[in-house]
Amino acid sequence: MTSEVVENEFEFYSKAEKYWKDVPATVDGMLGGYGHISSIDINSSRKFLQRFLRDGPNRTGTTRALDCGAGIGRITKRLLLPLFKTVDMVDVTEDFLTKAKSYLGEEGRRVRNYFCCGLQDFSPEPNSYDVIWIQWVIALPCRPAAQRHRGHQGQHGSGGGDHGRCGQQRLPGPGRGP
Ligand SMILES: C[S@@+](CC[C@H](N)C(=O)[O-])C[C@H]1O[C@@H](n2cnc3c(N)ncnc32)[C@H](O)[C@@H]1O
Repeated sequence: MTSEVVENEFEFYSKAEKYWKDVPATVDGMLGGYGHISSIDINSSRKFLQRFLRDGPNRTGTTRALDCGAGIGRITKRLLLPLFKTVDMVDVTEDFLTKAKSYLGEEGRRVRNYFCCGLQDFSPEPNSYDVIWIQWVIALPCRPAAQRHRGHQGQHGSGGGDHGRCGQQRLPGPGRGP
C-alpha cells in the first residue's frame, strides 16, 4: 500500500514536470491561455496581500518573500518585487526560471535565489521569509513548501537566513555567473 502511494506520487510529479516543459514561457502559458486576465488577477492579489502589510501590531515584514511555482516571474515582477526588498523564486521548470532572468528586467537583480526544484522536495530555511506566496499552483504539488514552512517564520519575520534546501539545482542569478 505504502509503495503504491509513493509510486503514484512519483508518477504524478513526473507527468506534471513533462507537461510544463511543453508550455510556452509566456504570461499566456503561465495562465493556461488566460493571459488577458493577468492584470486583474495581480491587482486582486495585491489588495489581499496589502491587508497584511499595513501598520499594526501584527504587520508582516517586507524584507523577503518566496514565490512558489514562480514560473517566468509574473507574480514576482508585478506583485512581490514592488512590495519586498528581495524575492526568491522556486519552480520545477528550468526554462521558466531562465526566462525570468530577462522577463524581470532591471528589478530582477533583487531576486536572490532561483531554486529549480519541485516544491515537494523544497524545504525553506526556517525564519527565512516574511511571506511565502503561491499563486496558480496550489492544486499541483502534494505538500508544498508553504505548508511545511508554516510555523517556522518569525511572527514578524526578519528575513534572516539564506537558502532553502533542495534536492535539485540552484540556478545562478543574473550577473552572478554559473
Ligand atoms: C499555472 S503556472 C503559474 C506560474 C506563476 N505562479 C504565475 O501565477 O504566473 C504553474 C507553475 O507551477 C510550476 N510547477 C508545477 N508543479 C510544480 C512543482 N511540483 N513544484 C514546483 N513548481 C511546480 C510550473 O512549472 C509553472 O511554472
